[in-house]
Amino acid sequence: MWGAIYDLRAPEGVRVARRPKPRGVVVRVVAAGMNPVDAKFVVGDKISCCAERIANGHGVGFDFSGVTESGDAVFGILGPFQGSVSEFVRISPSQVAPKPKSLSFVEAAALPVCGLTSLALRGERVLVIGASGGVGHLAVQVAVARGAAVTGISSSRNSEFVKSLGATPVAYDGNDFHLEGPFDAVLDTVHSSDPRDCDYREIVRGARYVTTGGHFSDWFKAGVKKLTGISLFPKDRELFWIDPFRAANGLRELADLADTRGLKPHVSEVLPFTDEGLRAAFKQLRSRRTVGKIVIQVSDPRS
Ligand SMILES: NC(=O)c1ccc[n+]([C@@H]2O[C@H](COP(=O)([O-])OP(=O)(O)OC[C@H]3O[C@@H](n4cnc5c(N)ncnc54)[C@H](OP(=O)(O)O)[C@@H]3O)[C@@H](O)[C@H]2O)c1
Repeated sequence: MWGAIYDLRAPEGVRVARRPKPRGVVVRVVAAGMNPVDAKFVVGDKISCCAERIANGHGVGFDFSGVTESGDAVFGILGPFQGSVSEFVRISPSQVAPKPKSLSFVEAAALPVCGLTSLALRGERVLVIGASGGVGHLAVQVAVARGAAVTGISSSRNSEFVKSLGATPVAYDGNDFHLEGPFDAVLDTVHSSDPRDCDYREIVRGARYVTTGGHFSDWFKAGVKKLTGISLFPKDRELFWIDPFRAANGLRELADLADTRGLKPHVSEVLPFTDEGLRAAFKQLRSRRTVGKIVIQVSDPRS
């Protein structure tokens, strides 16, 4: 079978290659959602010295939707380097759920990583930073569906999109940048170890503040919390780190929000399962300017 692998000598560090078909409970993949982390492995985002040794030759992608051997439509999430951009994937019950009936295979494949992350935001007056991106546009919708008043920060060119999701838009590049607080919870999908990023933490004092990225020490604390349940973070601050091996309940919650409350990923681009398609996806992911999600169409759902 064919699957996408990291090859750091290839353009963008990715190519399609022959791989052994997995054994066990197998899903034929119809679509695979892409996430910034897929492309970050090429540059060694968290452990830069080891990118080549760790990623090279391994599978690309976390998110997928597809059809099981018994004909059930499912969507789910794999662990690092298992490679969802692949004709077939092996699944465990803790990583998969029935596909939402209201979503296409392409839309369902866009949901797992970003949707599971968006579930971390709980509050009545919430702020989403990076509201036009993969995590942010789902976090706005999940919070609105849970009854919250939502403010979403994005660039001015994406303000209308953020408004269409149900949030009050605030443009960080506008002349009159102003936040109408207070907020009780903030999801910051922009903050990272990249020094070019604005640090909003001082602006939103007093709120529970969850980031999706940070410095090495934050990832270390997030890892300790994931493994032991013990939080080393200061009160009301946390780096949320998704757990792909215990995702089934969250996936079911997302499917329910899609089928009963209209949660819908915005897929801005569907790319082919080719070297060119993958490289275009990686280039787009690294630009950090994706509106909603990009998805690789791996196979035809009818075949
Ligand atoms: N910890 C975890 O488990 C976890 C899970 C999922 C994602 N993540 C991480 O969370 C981050 C966001 O993921 P994503 O899928 O939402 O990414 P994305 O789709 O690339 O969206 C990021 C958004 O951030 C905005 N942005 C980019 N640079 C900015 C800047 N300098 N200032 C303000 N806004 C900026 C962009 O919006 P505008 O173009 O409108 O500015 C873009 O839409 C990534 O780093 C990802 O790896 C972590």
